[in-house]
Amino acid sequence: MTPDLKVTIAGVEFANPIMTASGCCGYGEELHRVFPLKTLGALVTKSITLHPRSGHPVPRTAETASGMLNAIGLANVGVDAFIKDKLPFLEDKQTRVIVNVAGSKIQEYVDVCARLEDCPPVDMVELNISCPNVDEGGMEFGSNAALTEKTIASVKKVFTKPLIAKLSPNVTDIVEIARAAEQGGAEVLSLINSVVGAAIDINTWQPKLTNNKGGLTGPAIKPIALAKVDAVYNACTVPIIGIGGITCAADVVEFMLCGATAVQVGTALFIEPDVPVKIVKDLKTYLKQKGLASVANLRGKVRKY
Ligand SMILES: Cc1cc2nc3c(=O)[nH]c(=O)nc-3n(C[C@H](O)[C@H](O)[C@H](O)COP(=O)(O)O)c2cc1C
Repeated sequence: MTPDLKVTIAGVEFANPIMTASGCCGYGEELHRVFPLKTLGALVTKSITLHPRSGHPVPRTAETASGMLNAIGLANVGVDAFIKDKLPFLEDKQTRVIVNVAGSKIQEYVDVCARLEDCPPVDMVELNISCPNVDEGGMEFGSNAALTEKTIASVKKVFTKPLIAKLSPNVTDIVEIARAAEQGGAEVLSLINSVVGAAIDINTWQPKLTNNKGGLTGPAIKPIALAKVDAVYNACTVPIIGIGGITCAADVVEFMLCGATAVQVGTALFIEPDVPVKIVKDLKTYLKQKGLASVANLRGKVRKY
């Protein structure tokens, strides 16, 4: 018996539950040189904004214990160049394409998503709501329930394919934000984005990132992510994509037992770019060993005390 790795999320079928995480493999061109992208359930692009952005000056990444810090500053080519120069490459790669979208005003999210609406290779959009809102004094969209709901509801008016709201862990109550995203019309929730952190160079006394602080990712954040996925799974009805510190099939199983339907792999790609190939293979082996016919049989099955 070969276990079935297929998962269906918001009516879209994925060959397997393994996706890349936004910002960890650009637009897929380099990764495709390492392994065929059809190995993946989906490729998630770097955050796309309305206009091109060069991001923060370097250094914008720093290694930390069991993880890394980054403050890239949403460097990307902008939506028009993305559609013209980057999206065609993904058209025939036989993997699902999820475009991550960022903005500094609600209207920017709307404008970018409206342009993506008529692009056939785009299967879903993932909204990165961990961005400062210039109209609200820099408060992040995703740190306020009302703003989260309004942002998603505004995008839903122009984008008809499934919408994923990517949640930030840097909030008091992630369940409140998850419910607001669901209320706004998000068909899927992905979590977590990076955890705010800092690192200081003791020789120069300067922060290791020019942005002074950044986002912590990698295995260091996996326990945080698992607890958040568990909390949101028990409070919401829409499917969840689990993200945070995944490096192997065992990590994927943990996220699925806590309620994730699929997962994204980010920082691990910087250490072992072809790690998704190994994860897909090892996940199959695990399911076989457990006598499970489908990966879907793991979802939410954590046996709590
Ligand atoms: C270098 C780097 C750049 C990232 N850029 C983005 C981004 O543009 N948009 C976004 O939503 N998340 C971004 N992320 C966050 C990841 O998508 C993911 O949520 C986070 O890294 C946690 O997963 P991981 O521990 O597997 O890396 C970035 C992460 C890293 C390490």
